[in-house]
Amino acid sequence: MKLVFACLAVLFLSSALAKLGRRKKPSVADAFDDAGITEILNITAPKNWLKVKYGPIEVKLGNDIYPGDTILRPTISFDKADPDAYYTWCLLDPNYNNYPAKSTKRYPSSIYALYVNIRNLDIKAADVLASYAGPVPGPGTGEHYYVHLYWQQKGKIDVKSRDLPDYEVDQRYPFNLTEFLSQHNYCDEPAAGNFHTASFPDDLQEVCEEGGYCQ
Ligand SMILES: *[C@@H]1O[C@H](CO)[C@@H](O)[C@H](O)[C@H]1NC(C)=O
Ligand SMILES: *[C@@H]1O[C@H](CO)[C@@H](O)[C@H](O)[C@H]1NC(C)=O
Repeated sequence: MKLVFACLAVLFLSSALAKLGRRKKPSVADAFDDAGITEILNITAPKNWLKVKYGPIEVKLGNDIYPGDTILRPTISFDKADPDAYYTWCLLDPNYNNYPAKSTKRYPSSIYALYVNIRNLDIKAADVLASYAGPVPGPGTGEHYYVHLYWQQKGKIDVKSRDLPDYEVDQRYPFNLTEFLSQHNYCDEPAAGNFHTASFPDDLQEVCEEGGYCQ
């Protein structure tokens, strides 16, 4: 018996050491690629980490966050931001209609936050095209990605322009990121990004069914 334990201990130890050797912090770009987000959004994967915090909870390249914890707008920071440039912060769900995970087909997204003309990370002074709405994964639609992108603009966006759709009212779905980027003057790739996942909470499923909200 003792011998078996000793053997097992050696086994665990060596596998733990092997993992330690292999474990490399995943790069932001790799995480975006592996999740299929790069492909679905038709973007170049961001290389830099966008720091997004919901109170004490940090978004970490695909961690699961309970929807109740993301009701209030998070704080965001990006330490490589150019102080003279304007940026856009957006939060979108490329999985709004629950396509099969990692599907390579491109689907319309829904937009949860769209803040433009941000300077020095001052979100309060940004022009808000779609004010922050907490992610709401629908019942029975599985796991969703919530993707934060921080994108450098090549100039200030004229938010008084009549051509801009009213995202506050009815344009949150479908939201076409490719189209939005091409209509305004953006750098080719996002400056930074991050994402988390969320699902409709199990503990609300019953309430949902009883209330008839689940159909
Ligand atoms: C994908 O992005 C490329 C480069 O920005 C663009 O030329 C192409 O039209 C986009 N494709 C779709 C389907 O949006
Ligand atoms: C988004 O817009 C681009 C460019 O207008 C288009 O090629 C693409 O098919 C659209 N994507 C979706 C999912 O509608």
